[in-house]
Amino acid sequence: MRILLIGSGAREHALARALADDPRTTELVVAPGNPGTWAIARTMKLDILDRAAVVDAARAMRADLVVVGPEAPLVAGVVDAVRDAGIACFGPSREAARLEGSKAFAKEVMAAAEVPTAMAHVCTSIEQVTAAMDAFGAPFVIKDDGLAAGKGVVVTSDREEALAHARACLAKEGGDAVTDGAPAVVVEEYLDGPEISLFCLCDGTDVIPLEPAQDFKRLGDDDAGPNTGGMGAYSPLPWAPEMLRNEVVDRVALPVVREMARRGTPFVGVLYCGLALTSRGLRVIEFNVRFGDPETQVVLARLASPLGELLMAAATGNLHQVSSPRWRTDAAVTVVVAAHGYPGPVRKGDEVSGIADAEAQDGVHVLQAGTAAGEDGQVLSAGGRVLSVVGVGADLPAARAAAYAGVGRIHLAGSQHRTDIAAAL
Ligand code: AMP
Ligand code: GLY
Repeated sequence: MRILLIGSGAREHALARALADDPRTTELVVAPGNPGTWAIARTMKLDILDRAAVVDAARAMRADLVVVGPEAPLVAGVVDAVRDAGIACFGPSREAARLEGSKAFAKEVMAAAEVPTAMAHVCTSIEQVTAAMDAFGAPFVIKDDGLAAGKGVVVTSDREEALAHARACLAKEGGDAVTDGAPAVVVEEYLDGPEISLFCLCDGTDVIPLEPAQDFKRLGDDDAGPNTGGMGAYSPLPWAPEMLRNEVVDRVALPVVREMARRGTPFVGVLYCGLALTSRGLRVIEFNVRFGDPETQVVLARLASPLGELLMAAATGNLHQVSSPRWRTDAAVTVVVAAHGYPGPVRKGDEVSGIADAEAQDGVHVLQAGTAAGEDGQVLSAGGRVLSVVGVGADLPAARAAAYAGVGRIHLAGSQHRTDIAAAL
C-alpha cells in the first residue's frame, strides 16, 4: 500500500509512525512533513490547500490511499478532489467537513439526529446574543461559528468579555449556508464535568471507536491561562465509565453518520467526539472531523493493530470487514513543549536540543511539530507547539514519569510546558 499523508504536525508524525509500522505499507510520503518525519518517510513540499497540487502529488507516487491530517484542507475540499481522481482518501468531503467547519451546522445535525448536546442558540446579531446569554445565564459560552484555530470559544462569567468576543465573531466576513452565509455565533448552556475526546473511524455507514483520551486545553498548570490547541494528553481514562465507547457509538456517532448519509453527504474519516460527562449524563461539546492533536499521540501509542488497514477500510466503505482494533495494555502520556509566546505570536529559530537524549529514556519517543532544520542539521523551533514528548509505561504513573523524563532532556530557550499532565491518576 502506497500512502500519501498530508500535514506537518505532531499528529501527523504520530500517524506516520503508525502507518510506517503497518506491514502492508510499501511506501509512505508525508507532505509537507517536518524534520521528525524525515527519518521514517519521504517528504514532499506541498501547498496542502491546493486541491490540484494534492491530486498531482498523489498521482506522482501512484498512491493507493491519501490520508488528510488537518482540518483546513478538509474544509477546502481536498478529499473531494482526490476521490474525483479515483484515489481512496481517508477524510470527509467538504460538505461533511462542515460538522467541524460550522458549529451552527453541527448543532443542526445533532438536533436532527437527537444527539445529546448543550442547548444552544445560533445568533447572527448582538441582540440575539444578549437574549441567549440572558436565557442561559453565566458562565457564558460563546463560540465562533467558523474555524478559528482553537481561539473560537470563550467561556467566561464576564458579560463584557462574552459580548466583545461575540461582536468580534459577528464582524467577520461570511458564514456557513446554515445561516444563509451570514457570520454567526453559537451561544450555549455551560456544561460541567470532565471532558473526553473519543475518535470514531467512519466509512459512511459503519463506525469503529478508538480508545478515549483526555486533552489539557489550557496553557498553564491547574487549567490556568488561555485556551491552546492542547498542551498534553493521556490514555486510557481509568475514571471513564466502562460503557462509554458503546454509548458514544450508539447515541452520537451512528446517529450522526446515519443523518449525514440520509442527507446524501456521507461522513468518511474520523468523527472526533468532544464530550462532557456532566451530572446529567453525556453531552457533545463539539465535533471535529479529523484526529485530535495531541490526543492522537497517546491513542496511537497504544494501538496494536495496523493503522493503514483501518484507514483504508474506512476510506473504501469496508469497516464491516475489519475486526475491532487491538490495544496494548500500556498507558501513554504526552507533554507538549511549546515555544516562547505560545499561544500568542511565538519566537522562532531557537535551537531545540536533547531529542536523542530524550528518546534514549525508557518508553520515550519524541514527535515533532513546529520544527525546521537548521543549516547544520540542527532542529530549530518554527511554530507554537514545537514537540510532543510521549511516554509509554505499564500504567499512567509510569507513562507520566517517562514523558517527563523525556521533557527534562529537551532544551529550548524560553519554552513552556505543563507539569501536571496526567497527575493524580
Ligand atoms: P471547542 O472548540 O468547542 O472544543 O471548545 C473549546 C473548549 O471550550 C472545550 O474543550 C471546553 O473546555 C470549552 N467549552 C466548549 N463548550 C462548552 C460548554 N458548553 N460548556 C463548558 N465548556 C465548554
Ligand atoms: N486537541 C484538540 C483538537 O485537536 O482540536
